[in-house]
Amino acid sequence: MHMIDIAGAISAYRHCRRQVVTASVDHLDFLNPVQVGDLIVLEAQVNRAFHTSVEVGVEVFSEDSAAGVRKHTTTAFLTFVALNEIGKPIPVPPLIVKTSDERRRYREAGERRNLRLKARKKS
Ligand SMILES: CC(C)(COP(=O)(O)OP(=O)(O)OC[C@H]1O[C@@H](n2cnc3c(N)ncnc32)[C@H](O)[C@@H]1OP(=O)(O)O)[C@@H](O)C(=O)NCCC(=O)NCCS
Repeated sequence: MHMIDIAGAISAYRHCRRQVVTASVDHLDFLNPVQVGDLIVLEAQVNRAFHTSVEVGVEVFSEDSAAGVRKHTTTAFLTFVALNEIGKPIPVPPLIVKTSDERRRYREAGERRNLRLKARKKS
């Protein structure tokens, strides 16, 4: 989970070019175990930029390096908020989406944000 946060933060930072802080991590399902000796591969991408926050998706794979077999372990969605010099949220650059896959991620990130906002209002 720490590695997911680090990979996500690097991706958010590369988009925002600002200090970012983790605001939330959506739930995590572990689909396949990571065995001792496996390599862990993390792929992170910004799915959508909102006002001062971005949603980053992190996919985690375990790789049996001897056999060369890679298995999907989990996908996590994290929200990072960009901060200014005094630690206050600051607007992030827009995300330009071009491919159909990027547009799908963008749309789905909006749906997840609506659910998050609803959940935050309830709590
Ligand atoms: C995240 C944090 C900076 C938000 O500050 P805030 O004063 O509540 O700011 P705002 O209410 O103006 O919200 C700023 C943005 O954060 C988002 N946000 C705040 N809390 C959130 C949450 N729990 N989940 C997702 N997004 C959240 C808001 O939606 C908003 O995004 P937007 O501008 O793109 O619409 C603040 O709550 C904080 O510092 N939290 C501690 C973070 C931390 O310590 N992380 C390390 C964990 S190990």
